[in-house]
Amino acid sequence: MPQPSIVILDTPEAVHVRAAEEIAHWAGDAICTHGEFTLCLAGGSTPAPAYELLATRFRLSIDWRDVQFFWGDERCVGPDDPASNFAMARRTMLEPLAIRPAQIHRIHGEERPDAAAEAYEGELRRVFSLEPGEVPAFDLMLLGLGQNAHIASLFPSSAALREERRLALAVEVDDRLARRITITPPVINRAAHVILMVCGEGKARAVHDVLEGPREPDRVPAQIVAPSEGDVLWLLDRAAASGLRSSTAPGGSDG
Ligand code: 6PG
Repeated sequence: MPQPSIVILDTPEAVHVRAAEEIAHWAGDAICTHGEFTLCLAGGSTPAPAYELLATRFRLSIDWRDVQFFWGDERCVGPDDPASNFAMARRTMLEPLAIRPAQIHRIHGEERPDAAAEAYEGELRRVFSLEPGEVPAFDLMLLGLGQNAHIASLFPSSAALREERRLALAVEVDDRLARRITITPPVINRAAHVILMVCGEGKARAVHDVLEGPREPDRVPAQIVAPSEGDVLWLLDRAAASGLRSSTAPGGSDG
């Protein structure tokens, strides 16, 4: 796997615009290459403005009928709960773009967690037409980064970090929203392209630990991101990059 690319932008707004540009680019590439774009969305708050840009300024940049939407994780709440990652994507992008329900493959956080994880795994197998033992290869995987360097809902010391067979798991994490469903490392590392969007001073320590700290994925989960045949792009604002030795590069630095 090539070294991750690191682009440092002056503001969160610049990160969101660059993320939307990258998503539009990879969507066009995938749709031209194999007729559809499988996109795994990040949750949390960081990506929301990028999703809004996709539904507005970039609305005409993507043939939305050819996009299949999935999620990297979901909180164990209903689809109308403000904490739902699906609800955030629906509000910012799916509803404004009038995406057809058949293109939306949400994690059913309202169901019993283990059952929801099994159902989501089944949906992945169905949509990607997987044989037993195969792992879905997303065209693009979007991830955020927690202050403890978690990605999706893969938190420090979680057994899910060592999962090699399942595609999705129910987990209990050290967070106010403790019960979640998450994709597993094999799914992340099968993606063709991974983009991490990270903004704010509060993430600077985690960014440093992931990119410049000792390799300790059990303590620094984002270090598991190493797609076997894919590439990784970090989109950081200056605040999130402030803990990096190489964070002084003006306008962006490729790692
Ligand atoms: C979630 C996300 C999670 C998120 C990070 C960063 O469900 O919370 O999937 O992995 O990306 O916690 O969250 P913010 O973008 O809100 O800082």
